[in-house]
Amino acid sequence: MKNYLSPSILAADFWNLGEQVRAVERGGASYLHVDVMDGVFVPSISFGMPILEALKRKTTLLLDVHLMIVEPERYIETMASMGADLINFHLEATEKPFEVIQKIRSLGKKVGITIKPATPVSALEPFLNLVDMVLIMTVEPGFGGQSLMPDCVDKVRELRKRVNELGLELDIEVDGGVKESNLEMILEAGANVIVAGSAVFGSNPEERTRLFVEKMHVE
Ligand code: DX5
Ligand code: ZN
Repeated sequence: MKNYLSPSILAADFWNLGEQVRAVERGGASYLHVDVMDGVFVPSISFGMPILEALKRKTTLLLDVHLMIVEPERYIETMASMGADLINFHLEATEKPFEVIQKIRSLGKKVGITIKPATPVSALEPFLNLVDMVLIMTVEPGFGGQSLMPDCVDKVRELRKRVNELGLELDIEVDGGVKESNLEMILEAGANVIVAGSAVFGSNPEERTRLFVEKMHVE
C-alpha cells in the first residue's frame, strides 16, 4: 500500500494560509487534512465551506475532509460541491451510516469512516467492504496538539489484521498526536495515511513535511 502524509491545516498560521499550503506542497505532501468542527459533536468550532472552497480553487492536493459534526448526512452534498475529495465522517455522529456512505459514493468521492478512541474496531465490521478508508483517532477529536493514546495504535494493528483477513485493500489513516518520534510505530502497526498538524505546521512546514515524507517512503 502506498503511504500518504495529510498535513492538518488546523495547526496552520491562518494569516498566511495560502503560503502554508504552498509550503507543504513543496515539501512533498499529497493530501491536505481539513478538520470541520461544529461545536456540538466536539466542543470546538473550526471552519467550513469557505475555507474548503478557497483551498479547492488554488491547490491540487487531495482534500481530505474530516467531519466532526453531528448528522453528517446533512452536509455531504455541500462538502462535495465545495471540493472535498475524500469525506471522513464519524460513526458515532450518525444514526444513518449506510446512507452517509451511499451519499458520498453517489457523488463520486472517496469514503472514510472514522472512530473515536472509545469505539472498538469491531463496530466497523459492517462497513469494511463499503468504504475506502478507516480513520482511527489517536486522540479525542476536537483539538490539535494533544498526545497520542498508545492504546489506539493497538486498534490500528487489530484493524489491519482484520482487513488483511478479509482480503481488502483499505487505507488506514491515523489522526492525533503524530510526531516524528512515534511515526515508525504507527506505520509498523499498519497505518498508511498519516495526519500531522502541530508536528508539521508548528515550525517550518516545508522542511517538516519533507522530513515526514522521507521517513514514510512516500512514493
Ligand atoms: C483533532 C483533529 C486533528 C488535529 C491533529 O480533532 O482531528 O486532525 O489537527 O493535530 P495534531 O497532529 O497536532 O495532534
Ligand atoms: Zn482530523
